[in-house]
Amino acid sequence: MAEPAGCLTFRPSTRDDEPFLWEMLYQAIFVPHGMPLPDRDIVKHSNLARYVEGWGRIDDMGVAAVDAGIPVGAAWLRLMIGYGYVDDQTPELSVAVLPEYRGQGLGTQMIERLLQVAKSRYHAVSLSVSVDNPARRLYERLGFKAVSRDDASMTMRIDLDQ
Ligand SMILES: CC(C)(COP(=O)(O)OP(=O)(O)OC[C@H]1O[C@@H](n2cnc3c(N)ncnc32)[C@H](O)[C@@H]1OP(=O)(O)O)[C@@H](O)C(=O)NCCC(=O)NCCS
Repeated sequence: MAEPAGCLTFRPSTRDDEPFLWEMLYQAIFVPHGMPLPDRDIVKHSNLARYVEGWGRIDDMGVAAVDAGIPVGAAWLRLMIGYGYVDDQTPELSVAVLPEYRGQGLGTQMIERLLQVAKSRYHAVSLSVSVDNPARRLYERLGFKAVSRDDASMTMRIDLDQ
């Protein structure tokens, strides 16, 4: 897989990444065009906080994109009952890239790397995405398939055993 130009590198997420993952969780919230940004404290609500709180559990896995030593994006997996829950054995994927680094392939590369590593531990990965979020195209390209949906969001899953 080609490395992006410049000083961009990828590394596994560590326990020390928790503060950055709170920021990434905020960045991952889908805000429809023209709508105001949510309050930053929104990520502390339990339905969102569960994606990051106490990062570094034995089953947590993540990849960070780093530019000259500074993290600029993250993709991470956690076993939990989140918006994209399918079963107790399937971790949920979260991903975000800082706005100025989007659309340059970082999200694709982080997810591909994470799924490659995740194969050693999990049979599948799920996620939840707003139906209007352009990220849906990225997930479909990577092989995620819809398993359920309502008017606002859909749950997608990828089988890692194929
Ligand atoms: C989604 C995201 C992680 C993808 O990372 P990226 O480095 O921008 O993605 P890549 O360059 O590898 O791939 C481009 C694809 O990302 C998605 N994308 C690009 N910009 C986006 C944005 N501002 N918001 C959401 N998705 C975006 C699109 O699917 C795009 O594919 P397209 O060109 O066919 O439309 C990143 O854009 C982001 O952080 N977006 C905001 C947070 C978010 O929506 N997270 C997902 C929540 S389910």
